[in-house]
Amino acid sequence: MVAVAVLAAGRGTRMKSDLPKVLHRLGGKSLVEWVLSSLSAVTTVRQLVIVGYRGELVTQSLTASEHAATSALEFVAQTEQLGTGHAVQQLLPHLEGFEGDLLVLNGDVPLLRPQTLKHLLDTHQQHRNAATILTAHLPNPKGYGRVFCNGQNVLQQIVEDRDCTPAQKQNRRINAGIYCFRWPDLAAVLPKLTANNDQNEYYLTDAVNYLDPVMVVDVEDYQEILGINDRKQLAAAYDILQARIKDNWMAAGVTLIDPASITIDDTVVLEPDVVIEPQTHLRGKTVIGAGSRIGPGSLIENSQIGQQVTALYSVITDSTVAANTRIGPYAHLRGQVETGAGCRIGNFVELKNTKLGDRTNVAHLSYLGDTTTGNQVNVGAGTITANYDGVKKHRTRIGDRSKTGSNSVLVAPITIGDDVNIAAGSTVTEDVPNDCLVIARARQVLKPGWRLQSSKPAQSSEG
Ligand code: UD1
Ligand code: CA
Repeated sequence: MVAVAVLAAGRGTRMKSDLPKVLHRLGGKSLVEWVLSSLSAVTTVRQLVIVGYRGELVTQSLTASEHAATSALEFVAQTEQLGTGHAVQQLLPHLEGFEGDLLVLNGDVPLLRPQTLKHLLDTHQQHRNAATILTAHLPNPKGYGRVFCNGQNVLQQIVEDRDCTPAQKQNRRINAGIYCFRWPDLAAVLPKLTANNDQNEYYLTDAVNYLDPVMVVDVEDYQEILGINDRKQLAAAYDILQARIKDNWMAAGVTLIDPASITIDDTVVLEPDVVIEPQTHLRGKTVIGAGSRIGPGSLIENSQIGQQVTALYSVITDSTVAANTRIGPYAHLRGQVETGAGCRIGNFVELKNTKLGDRTNVAHLSYLGDTTTGNQVNVGAGTITANYDGVKKHRTRIGDRSKTGSNSVLVAPITIGDDVNIAAGSTVTEDVPNDCLVIARARQVLKPGWRLQSSKPAQSSEG
């Protein structure tokens, strides 16, 4: 039986932020959400999160997270942050009588792979250790607790960086802050902790020093255990995460052109033969269908893009684009747009909450808001749907095969039938039945020989 506790009570002073450190975002998730998602390969009976600095905010944010939808989270308050040992002491009343193992995770170590935690737990259980801790060999171990072992990976001592002698600082094997404890053993030593160290804090690492036997497990890829203490480390973790995500998609058959200029959230799904061009950013719950080419210079967020779509220098949010549609350059789709298959949405076109039928074109300089079109509609250059009367938004409907002339304005609410032609420059305010030509503008007036008074040849003003 395994319970897990995540240490998330610290403020994270070095972030220089009002926001608790564990709520800072890394791609699509907060740091602590990343930590929780690293539990996916182990089965836990309870998940406890220790909160303190702005604890209500951390609780709120995690309660609303996707993780909470599948796992019940318990929140334990640590009202004063007196150290990692003190944080785990807060669990004593909550885990009274619990006989299983406790995984302890630092809330600021977001890049752990699920397999690593599983390996830690398996090693712990196979060897019946009192504790097993995750360690790594770091090129630059500054700031981390140093781990001293005998040849059999049995722990002798952990010493915090600031409590190390110069000789001890030479050791590059560090404590990752990820532990597995036999809970009854840990519970017995927690009350003995003292704050007799450079920071006057209760160290969880001291509890580890009291237990026996304690084994260490080295993580293969040290990047997994990098802790986030400041914004520079947050940026470095983002780079590592991006490299992982991009490597995965390239291995799965996606082409990334100039990967360093592209960002992809871990929540994005890409089908084979997708090509992502430079300066493109894919965020949230986005899916890109096979053979589509996105970018250069596009931002796609929470959108479903079908197969063989192109999107050039465009922004698409919260929308669905069907197969073979060509978008851009410089188009903006937002607010639940749905396009049919084979549409063309061209230069400087904005679509909002609009549904286009198949093979419909909106090729230049248009705004369609709250509009529904049929199939094979041609929306002429500069067509605008006037959807807002100053109080409410209204819908525009355009039937199959209709064509709006350049610079026409459709004043909603309005319904245009099938096979309608709207003359250029029309302002259409009333519904139009099927099969009509509509001309809704003033007729051109010609006045032969007319000139401005001042430009006429001078005339005598006498008489
Ligand atoms: C800790 C370890 C160190 C290890 C490093 C790995 C101790 C004493 N040291 O140091 O050996 O190398 O992690 O990243 O444990 N927290 C609380 N309550 C507190 C204090 C901290 O919940 O009172 C939480 C923080 O929010 C954070 C985590 O515990 O998520 C780690 O705290 P932090 O102060 O960053 O520990 P380190 O100094 O990095
Ligand atoms: Ca830390």
